[in-house]
Amino acid sequence: MKKPWSGRFAYKTSSAAESFTESISFDRKLWKHDIAGSIAHAKMLARQRIITAKESQDIIDGLTEIAEVIRSEKFIFSPDLEDIHMHIESSLTQQIGDPGRKLHTARSRNDQVALDLRLYLREQIQHISSLIRKLQKTFIVIAERHQDTLMPGYTHLQRAQPVLLSHHLLAYVEMFQRDHERLRNCLLRTESCPLGACALAGTSLPIDRVYTAKLLGFSRVAGNSIDAVSDRDFALEFLSCAAITMMHLSRLAEELILWSTEEFGFLEISDRFTTGSSIMPQKKNPDVAELMRGKTGRVYGNLMALLTLMKGLPLSYNRDMQEDKLPVFDSVETLTACLAVLVEMLPEAKFNTRRLREAAAGGYATATDIAEYLVRKGVPFRSAHEITGKIVLSCISRNIPLTSLSLRELRNFSSAIDKDVRAILDPEVSVKTRSSFGGTAPSEVKRQIRHYRKLLK
Ligand code: ARG
Repeated sequence: MKKPWSGRFAYKTSSAAESFTESISFDRKLWKHDIAGSIAHAKMLARQRIITAKESQDIIDGLTEIAEVIRSEKFIFSPDLEDIHMHIESSLTQQIGDPGRKLHTARSRNDQVALDLRLYLREQIQHISSLIRKLQKTFIVIAERHQDTLMPGYTHLQRAQPVLLSHHLLAYVEMFQRDHERLRNCLLRTESCPLGACALAGTSLPIDRVYTAKLLGFSRVAGNSIDAVSDRDFALEFLSCAAITMMHLSRLAEELILWSTEEFGFLEISDRFTTGSSIMPQKKNPDVAELMRGKTGRVYGNLMALLTLMKGLPLSYNRDMQEDKLPVFDSVETLTACLAVLVEMLPEAKFNTRRLREAAAGGYATATDIAEYLVRKGVPFRSAHEITGKIVLSCISRNIPLTSLSLRELRNFSSAIDKDVRAILDPEVSVKTRSSFGGTAPSEVKRQIRHYRKLLK
């Protein structure tokens, strides 16, 4: 196939160089966006009388047909045409002749690819945002079901204080809320249209950049043609957002894995989302959650890859930037797959509420309640902490729970203790009293659920 730059060259490209420099094997994913960009460009060229209305219409009809051929998987891709932009343009010219040769007027692949990647990400960010919303709703439904399921809350993975399971689940809803906000914000940076920057310097032809931007649904036109073809910040921003969301998913995956061990026994993941062992008949492995945790590494790597790719590049476009697409596609696809499988897996997971309740009562988890009880009786918190520590130590040495101590024994530690101390040793009561804003009390958990129900409507 003749190269568009063949005029300047005496020799043909080596096939080793061709297969080394091609991007069609991956950027074909951008075909829809490339065609949308070209149609807008052709409309603008006609409106500005740079090409005739008839030529523009021929181009649009030709592109529409190419879209059909690609959609039905009958399009022939070949590495000597390098990338998706050259494939589509060459096919168009083959189909409609000379008008096809006018499409690239006042355009370069540099502004074209910057546009395509923006259009792609804009669409994918919206899809990912809607999956995050779905995941939040899934959490809310489960949290509503477990408004009186107690569990131990942890710090350092040591039992800390009793909490409601719904409270723990709502922590994830908050995390995904921030992820959603970050993506909305990132979307703003995809909102500026680079088309018309051409190679880097703009053009002497009378184009209308505002018109193409409007046709493509952009709210702004990139203000500097050099920056317009150099900028990949929007992609980096997306990769950072994706990395943070994956970090959240990985923490969730880790808890699902831990909680479904025999040792914890808090949760059983459905058969439909686990696998067995080819040798150990008793096994049921949380592979989906493990892979989610594992894939997080790749998504982090994608962010590092693009940051490193960009850091040494002089302005404006450099061919290195062709490598931007692989990490972006990979992060989009990985994150989408994780979110999609989670919204199916979570509702089918079964919590062992009895076991959670037992664990909530163990580990001296209500010790802080005794300290706060003493504070209410006028004991300074530091002294209350020390007194309670001694009570706990004495229980540990005798291997008995706090509830086994008689009132007399308790009063030996502090005369401020009365018989009303009994009630607060109950984990249900402990949870009920933590009604400070955002705390684990049922009233506060209900408030959180109401808040998110309204927000997610
Ligand atoms: N395939 C290229 C990329 O993805 C398109 C831009 C090529 N521009 C150029 N001047 N060689 O970056």
